[in-house]
Amino acid sequence: MNILVTGGAGYIGTHTCIALLEAGYSVIVADNLSNSKRESLEKIKTITNKEVLFYEIDVTNTQAVEEIFQQNSIDGVIHFAGLKSVGESVEKPFMYYQNNLVCTLVLINACLKYDVRRFVFSSSATVYGGNHVPFVETMNFSQTSNPYGETKAMCERILTDITNANPSFTVTLLRYFNPVGAHNSGLIGEAPNGIPNNLMPYVTQVAKGKQEYLNIFGNDYPTIDGTGVRDYIHVMDLAEGHVAALNTVTAGVHIYNLGTGQGTSVLQLIKIFEEVNGIVIRFKITDRRQGDIASCFADVSKARKELDWIAKRDLETMCKDAWRFEQNYNHQVM
Ligand SMILES: NC(=O)c1ccc[n+]([C@@H]2O[C@H](COP(=O)([O-])OP(=O)(O)OC[C@H]3O[C@@H](n4cnc5c(N)ncnc54)[C@H](O)[C@@H]3O)[C@@H](O)[C@H]2O)c1
Repeated sequence: MNILVTGGAGYIGTHTCIALLEAGYSVIVADNLSNSKRESLEKIKTITNKEVLFYEIDVTNTQAVEEIFQQNSIDGVIHFAGLKSVGESVEKPFMYYQNNLVCTLVLINACLKYDVRRFVFSSSATVYGGNHVPFVETMNFSQTSNPYGETKAMCERILTDITNANPSFTVTLLRYFNPVGAHNSGLIGEAPNGIPNNLMPYVTQVAKGKQEYLNIFGNDYPTIDGTGVRDYIHVMDLAEGHVAALNTVTAGVHIYNLGTGQGTSVLQLIKIFEEVNGIVIRFKITDRRQGDIASCFADVSKARKELDWIAKRDLETMCKDAWRFEQNYNHQVM
Protein backbone atom coordinates (compact mmCIF):
# COMPACT_ATOMS: atom_id res chain seq x y z
CA MET A 1 0.00 0.00 0.00
CA ASN A 2 1.20 3.51 -0.86
CA ILE A 3 0.99 6.12 1.87
CA LEU A 4 1.47 9.81 1.15
CA VAL A 5 3.22 11.40 4.14
CA THR A 6 3.09 15.19 4.10
CA GLY A 7 5.74 16.81 6.29
CA GLY A 8 7.56 13.49 6.08
CA ALA A 9 11.00 15.11 6.26
CA GLY A 10 10.24 16.59 9.70
CA TYR A 11 10.76 15.23 13.20
CA ILE A 12 7.69 13.01 13.65
CA GLY A 13 7.36 12.45 9.90
CA THR A 14 10.80 10.84 9.46
CA HIS A 15 10.24 8.47 12.37
CA THR A 16 6.82 7.56 11.02
CA CYS A 17 8.29 6.88 7.56
CA ILE A 18 10.61 4.36 9.22
CA ALA A 19 7.73 2.67 11.07
CA LEU A 20 5.67 2.55 7.84
CA LEU A 21 8.53 1.10 5.77
CA GLU A 22 9.24 -1.48 8.46
CA ALA A 23 5.56 -2.44 8.46
CA GLY A 24 5.70 -3.04 4.69
CA TYR A 25 4.10 0.17 3.38
CA SER A 26 5.53 2.16 0.47
CA VAL A 27 6.06 5.82 1.30
CA ILE A 28 5.74 9.01 -0.73
CA VAL A 29 6.86 12.17 1.07
CA ALA A 30 5.66 15.69 0.25
CA ASP A 31 7.52 18.43 2.10
CA ASN A 32 8.65 21.98 1.32
CA LEU A 33 11.66 21.60 3.67
CA SER A 34 10.68 24.82 5.46
CA ASN A 35 11.57 23.19 8.79
CA SER A 36 13.55 20.14 7.74
CA LYS A 37 16.38 18.98 5.54
CA ARG A 38 16.57 16.68 2.54
CA GLU A 39 19.37 14.74 4.28
CA SER A 40 16.91 13.37 6.81
CA LEU A 41 15.28 11.40 3.98
CA GLU A 42 18.65 9.86 3.12
CA LYS A 43 18.98 8.82 6.75
CA ILE A 44 15.67 6.96 6.43
CA LYS A 45 17.20 4.96 3.61
CA THR A 46 20.33 4.24 5.65
CA ILE A 47 18.20 2.97 8.54
CA THR A 48 15.65 0.92 6.58
CA ASN A 49 17.50 0.13 3.36
CA LYS A 50 14.34 1.23 1.55
CA GLU A 51 13.60 4.19 -0.69
CA VAL A 52 10.98 6.89 -0.21
CA LEU A 53 9.68 8.83 -3.18
CA PHE A 54 10.16 12.53 -2.45
CA TYR A 55 8.25 15.55 -3.81
CA GLU A 56 9.64 18.90 -2.72
CA ILE A 57 6.39 20.84 -2.89
CA ASP A 58 4.30 23.19 -0.81
CA VAL A 59 1.15 21.38 0.28
CA THR A 60 -0.84 24.61 -0.01
CA ASN A 61 -0.26 24.34 -3.79
CA THR A 62 -3.31 22.53 -5.20
CA GLN A 63 -1.75 21.74 -8.56
CA ALA A 64 1.46 20.32 -7.07
CA VAL A 65 -0.54 18.14 -4.67
CA GLU A 66 -2.87 16.88 -7.39
CA GLU A 67 0.12 15.90 -9.53
CA ILE A 68 1.20 13.50 -6.79
CA PHE A 69 -2.26 11.92 -6.79
CA GLN A 70 -2.21 11.67 -10.60
CA GLN A 71 1.25 10.10 -10.73
CA ASN A 72 0.79 7.57 -7.93
CA SER A 73 -1.85 5.16 -6.73
CA ILE A 74 -2.29 6.41 -3.17
CA ASP A 75 -4.06 4.30 -0.56
CA GLY A 76 -3.86 6.68 2.38
CA VAL A 77 -2.55 10.02 3.59
CA ILE A 78 -0.81 10.92 6.84
CA HIS A 79 -0.81 14.68 7.14
CA PHE A 80 2.01 16.10 9.28
CA ALA A 81 2.85 19.19 7.22
CA GLY A 82 2.26 22.26 9.33
CA LEU A 83 3.82 25.02 11.36
CA LYS A 84 4.04 24.12 15.04
CA SER A 85 5.46 26.87 17.23
CA VAL A 86 2.95 28.23 19.73
CA GLY A 87 4.92 31.45 20.32
CA GLU A 88 5.39 32.15 16.62
CA SER A 89 1.67 31.54 16.02
CA VAL A 90 0.84 34.33 18.48
CA GLU A 91 3.15 36.72 16.59
CA LYS A 92 2.17 35.57 13.09
CA PRO A 93 -1.38 34.21 13.28
CA PHE A 94 -2.13 34.78 9.57
CA MET A 95 0.83 32.63 8.54
CA TYR A 96 -0.37 29.82 10.83
CA TYR A 97 -4.01 29.90 9.73
CA GLN A 98 -3.01 30.19 6.08
CA ASN A 99 -0.47 27.36 6.12
CA ASN A 100 -2.14 24.87 8.44
CA LEU A 101 -5.72 25.29 7.22
CA VAL A 102 -4.94 25.53 3.50
CA CYS A 103 -2.66 22.45 3.57
CA THR A 104 -5.50 20.44 5.11
CA LEU A 105 -8.15 21.77 2.71
CA VAL A 106 -6.01 21.14 -0.37
CA LEU A 107 -5.17 17.61 0.74
CA ILE A 108 -8.66 16.53 1.74
CA ASN A 109 -10.00 17.93 -1.51
CA ALA A 110 -7.47 15.86 -3.46
CA CYS A 111 -8.46 12.79 -1.44
CA LEU A 112 -12.12 13.33 -2.32
CA LYS A 113 -11.31 13.96 -5.97
CA TYR A 114 -9.04 10.89 -6.36
CA ASP A 115 -11.12 8.68 -4.04
CA VAL A 116 -8.44 8.19 -1.38
CA ARG A 117 -10.48 7.32 1.68
CA ARG A 118 -7.95 7.03 4.49
CA PHE A 119 -6.70 10.18 6.14
CA VAL A 120 -4.70 10.50 9.35
CA PHE A 121 -4.27 13.96 10.84
CA SER A 122 -1.65 15.26 13.30
CA SER A 123 -3.62 16.95 16.00
CA SER A 124 -2.41 17.96 19.43
CA ALA A 125 -3.27 17.77 23.11
CA THR A 126 -3.31 21.55 22.95
CA VAL A 127 -6.93 21.34 21.70
CA TYR A 128 -8.03 20.30 25.21
CA GLY A 129 -7.20 23.81 26.48
CA GLY A 130 -8.02 24.24 30.15
CA ASN A 131 -9.87 20.93 30.72
CA HIS A 132 -9.05 18.79 33.76
CA VAL A 133 -6.45 16.04 33.43
CA PRO A 134 -6.36 13.31 32.33
CA PHE A 135 -7.61 14.47 28.94
CA VAL A 136 -10.21 12.17 27.41
CA GLU A 137 -11.22 12.18 23.72
CA THR A 138 -14.87 12.87 24.59
CA MET A 139 -14.09 16.20 26.31
CA ASN A 140 -15.53 19.34 24.79
CA PHE A 141 -13.30 22.28 24.01
CA SER A 142 -14.42 25.69 22.89
CA GLN A 143 -11.32 27.78 22.41
CA THR A 144 -7.67 26.87 22.73
CA SER A 145 -5.15 29.34 24.11
CA ASN A 146 -3.22 30.23 20.94
CA PRO A 147 -3.58 30.40 17.13
CA TYR A 148 -1.54 27.20 16.62
CA GLY A 149 -3.99 25.27 18.80
CA GLU A 150 -6.88 26.91 16.98
CA THR A 151 -5.56 25.66 13.64
CA LYS A 152 -5.56 22.12 15.03
CA ALA A 153 -9.08 22.45 16.46
CA MET A 154 -10.35 24.00 13.21
CA CYS A 155 -8.77 21.27 11.07
CA GLU A 156 -10.40 18.66 13.31
CA ARG A 157 -13.81 20.29 12.74
CA ILE A 158 -13.27 20.65 8.99
CA LEU A 159 -12.25 17.00 8.65
CA THR A 160 -15.17 15.86 10.80
CA ASP A 161 -17.73 17.80 8.72
CA ILE A 162 -16.26 16.49 5.46
CA THR A 163 -16.29 12.92 6.73
CA ASN A 164 -19.88 13.25 7.90
CA ALA A 165 -20.82 14.37 4.37
CA ASN A 166 -18.77 11.50 2.84
CA PRO A 167 -19.56 8.46 5.00
CA SER A 168 -17.23 6.08 3.15
CA PHE A 169 -14.33 8.24 4.21
CA THR A 170 -12.09 7.33 7.17
CA VAL A 171 -10.46 10.13 9.14
CA THR A 172 -8.33 9.51 12.21
CA LEU A 173 -7.48 12.49 14.38
CA LEU A 174 -4.42 11.71 16.49
CA ARG A 175 -3.91 14.02 19.44
CA TYR A 176 -0.23 13.88 20.32
CA PHE A 177 1.04 14.64 23.79
CA ASN A 178 4.75 15.53 24.09
CA PRO A 179 6.92 13.63 21.59
CA VAL A 180 10.57 13.35 22.61
CA GLY A 181 13.54 11.10 21.94
CA ALA A 182 14.93 9.86 18.67
CA HIS A 183 15.43 6.74 16.59
CA ASN A 184 17.91 4.49 18.42
CA SER A 185 20.34 4.65 15.49
CA GLY A 186 21.08 8.23 16.55
CA LEU A 187 20.78 9.28 12.90
CA ILE A 188 17.49 11.17 13.05
CA GLY A 189 15.85 13.15 15.83
CA GLU A 190 14.55 16.56 16.76
CA ALA A 191 16.80 19.27 15.37
CA PRO A 192 14.98 22.57 15.63
CA ASN A 193 16.27 25.66 13.88
CA GLY A 194 17.41 28.32 16.34
CA ILE A 195 16.54 28.24 20.02
CA PRO A 196 14.39 25.19 20.84
CA ASN A 197 10.78 25.68 21.93
CA ASN A 198 10.43 22.22 23.40
CA LEU A 199 12.00 20.98 26.61
CA MET A 200 14.00 17.94 25.47
CA PRO A 201 16.01 19.56 22.65
CA TYR A 202 16.73 22.40 25.06
CA VAL A 203 17.98 19.95 27.67
CA THR A 204 20.21 18.14 25.16
CA GLN A 205 21.59 21.46 23.92
CA VAL A 206 22.46 22.48 27.49
CA ALA A 207 24.10 19.08 27.96
CA LYS A 208 26.10 19.70 24.78
CA GLY A 209 27.08 23.22 25.84
CA LYS A 210 25.15 24.87 23.00
CA GLN A 211 22.96 26.62 25.56
CA GLU A 212 24.31 27.83 28.89
CA TYR A 213 21.36 26.79 31.03
CA LEU A 214 17.75 25.70 30.82
CA ASN A 215 14.96 28.12 31.69
CA ILE A 216 12.22 26.47 33.72
CA PHE A 217 9.08 28.53 33.32
CA GLY A 218 7.55 28.63 36.80
CA ASN A 219 7.89 26.45 39.91
CA ASP A 220 4.66 27.48 41.59
CA TYR A 221 2.18 25.32 39.70
CA PRO A 222 -0.08 22.99 41.70
CA THR A 223 2.03 19.95 40.74
CA ILE A 224 4.28 17.49 42.57
CA ASP A 225 7.25 19.92 42.67
CA GLY A 226 5.72 23.12 41.28
CA THR A 227 7.04 22.68 37.72
CA GLY A 228 4.82 21.90 34.73
CA VAL A 229 3.74 18.29 34.20
CA ARG A 230 3.59 16.79 30.71
CA ASP A 231 3.00 13.40 29.11
CA TYR A 232 6.26 12.61 27.30
CA ILE A 233 6.02 9.95 24.60
CA HIS A 234 8.90 8.42 22.65
CA VAL A 235 8.70 9.54 19.03
CA MET A 236 9.02 5.92 17.79
CA ASP A 237 6.03 4.91 19.92
CA LEU A 238 4.15 7.82 18.38
CA ALA A 239 5.26 6.70 14.90
CA GLU A 240 4.02 3.18 15.57
CA GLY A 241 0.69 4.66 16.69
CA HIS A 242 0.25 5.95 13.14
CA VAL A 243 0.81 2.49 11.70
CA ALA A 244 -1.75 1.12 14.15
CA ALA A 245 -4.20 3.85 13.10
CA LEU A 246 -3.75 2.97 9.42
CA ASN A 247 -4.10 -0.75 10.09
CA THR A 248 -7.25 -0.79 12.13
CA VAL A 249 -9.61 2.07 11.36
CA THR A 250 -13.03 1.68 9.78
CA ALA A 251 -15.16 4.34 8.05
CA GLY A 252 -16.05 7.49 10.00
CA VAL A 253 -14.18 9.86 12.30
CA HIS A 254 -11.95 8.37 14.99
CA ILE A 255 -10.13 10.37 17.64
CA TYR A 256 -7.27 9.00 19.72
CA ASN A 257 -4.90 10.38 22.30
CA LEU A 258 -1.34 9.25 21.69
CA GLY A 259 0.51 9.56 24.97
CA THR A 260 1.73 7.32 27.77
CA GLY A 261 -0.93 8.34 30.28
CA GLN A 262 1.79 9.36 32.75
CA GLY A 263 2.60 12.89 33.82
CA THR A 264 6.22 13.88 34.48
CA SER A 265 7.36 17.23 35.84
CA VAL A 266 10.20 19.24 34.31
CA LEU A 267 12.39 18.61 37.35
CA GLN A 268 11.63 14.88 37.26
CA LEU A 269 12.59 14.70 33.59
CA ILE A 270 15.85 16.57 34.20
CA LYS A 271 16.74 14.20 37.04
CA ILE A 272 16.19 11.13 34.84
CA PHE A 273 18.22 12.71 32.01
CA GLU A 274 21.07 13.46 34.41
CA GLU A 275 21.04 9.96 35.89
CA VAL A 276 20.92 7.93 32.65
CA ASN A 277 23.41 10.10 30.78
CA GLY A 278 25.71 11.07 33.66
CA ILE A 279 25.50 14.79 32.88
CA VAL A 280 24.48 17.73 35.06
CA ILE A 281 21.89 20.07 33.51
CA ARG A 282 22.17 23.66 34.66
CA PHE A 283 18.84 25.43 35.00
CA LYS A 284 17.25 28.64 36.23
CA ILE A 285 13.69 29.12 37.44
CA THR A 286 12.01 32.01 35.64
CA ASP A 287 8.47 33.37 35.44
CA ARG A 288 5.62 31.29 34.12
CA ARG A 289 5.25 31.39 30.32
CA GLN A 290 2.02 32.82 29.01
CA GLY A 291 -0.36 30.13 27.75
CA ASP A 292 1.27 27.25 29.66
CA ILE A 293 -0.93 25.02 31.78
CA ALA A 294 0.06 23.21 34.99
CA SER A 295 -0.58 19.65 33.90
CA CYS A 296 -1.22 17.85 30.64
CA PHE A 297 -1.49 14.09 30.36
CA ALA A 298 -3.65 11.65 28.48
CA ASP A 299 -6.22 9.03 29.16
CA VAL A 300 -4.90 6.41 26.72
CA SER A 301 -7.48 3.68 27.24
CA LYS A 302 -9.26 4.27 23.91
CA ALA A 303 -6.13 3.85 21.76
CA ARG A 304 -5.16 0.78 23.77
CA LYS A 305 -8.58 -0.81 23.28
CA GLU A 306 -9.38 0.13 19.69
CA LEU A 307 -5.94 0.39 18.08
CA ASP A 308 -4.29 -2.31 20.19
CA TRP A 309 -1.48 0.20 20.63
CA ILE A 310 0.39 1.25 23.71
CA ALA A 311 3.54 3.34 24.24
CA LYS A 312 6.31 0.92 25.23
CA ARG A 313 9.46 2.99 25.67
CA ASP A 314 10.20 4.49 29.10
CA LEU A 315 11.55 7.90 30.10
CA GLU A 316 15.08 6.53 30.50
CA THR A 317 15.05 5.39 26.86
CA MET A 318 13.64 8.73 25.71
CA CYS A 319 16.47 10.59 27.50
CA LYS A 320 19.20 8.25 26.26
CA ASP A 321 17.98 8.33 22.65
CA ALA A 322 17.60 12.12 22.63
CA TRP A 323 21.14 12.53 23.94
CA ARG A 324 22.60 10.01 21.47
CA PHE A 325 21.07 11.96 18.60
CA GLU A 326 22.31 15.31 19.92
CA GLN A 327 25.86 13.97 20.19
CA ASN A 328 25.71 12.56 16.66
CA TYR A 329 24.03 15.58 15.18
CA ASN A 330 27.05 17.80 15.62
CA HIS A 331 29.12 15.47 13.49
CA GLN A 332 26.66 15.41 10.61
CA VAL A 333 26.97 17.68 7.61
CA MET A 334 23.45 19.13 7.56
N1 LIG B 1 6.37 18.00 17.88
C1 LIG B 1 5.35 18.22 18.70
O1 LIG B 1 5.53 18.49 19.88
C2 LIG B 1 3.91 18.11 18.18
C3 LIG B 1 2.87 17.95 19.11
C4 LIG B 1 1.56 17.86 18.62
C5 LIG B 1 1.31 17.94 17.26
N2 LIG B 1 2.35 18.10 16.39
C6 LIG B 1 2.06 18.20 14.96
O2 LIG B 1 2.68 17.13 14.28
C7 LIG B 1 3.07 17.55 12.97
C8 LIG B 1 4.55 17.25 12.78
O3 LIG B 1 5.29 17.91 13.78
P1 LIG B 1 6.89 17.83 13.86
O4 LIG B 1 7.26 18.00 15.28
O5 LIG B 1 7.38 16.68 13.10
O6 LIG B 1 7.24 19.19 13.08
P2 LIG B 1 8.35 19.48 11.98
O7 LIG B 1 8.39 20.95 11.80
O8 LIG B 1 9.62 18.78 12.30
O9 LIG B 1 7.71 18.78 10.69
C9 LIG B 1 6.72 19.42 9.91
C10 LIG B 1 7.16 19.31 8.46
O10 LIG B 1 6.16 19.92 7.64
C11 LIG B 1 6.84 20.67 6.63
N3 LIG B 1 5.90 21.69 6.18
C12 LIG B 1 5.35 22.72 6.88
N4 LIG B 1 4.50 23.43 6.11
C13 LIG B 1 4.51 22.84 4.88
C14 LIG B 1 3.85 23.10 3.66
N5 LIG B 1 3.02 24.14 3.51
N6 LIG B 1 4.08 22.29 2.62
C15 LIG B 1 4.94 21.24 2.73
N7 LIG B 1 5.60 20.93 3.85
C16 LIG B 1 5.38 21.73 4.93
C17 LIG B 1 8.12 21.17 7.27
O11 LIG B 1 9.13 21.45 6.33
C18 LIG B 1 8.49 20.00 8.17
O12 LIG B 1 9.35 19.09 7.50
C19 LIG B 1 2.75 19.04 12.87
O13 LIG B 1 1.51 19.18 12.21
C20 LIG B 1 2.63 19.46 14.32
O14 LIG B 1 1.76 20.55 14.49
C21 LIG B 1 3.64 18.17 16.81
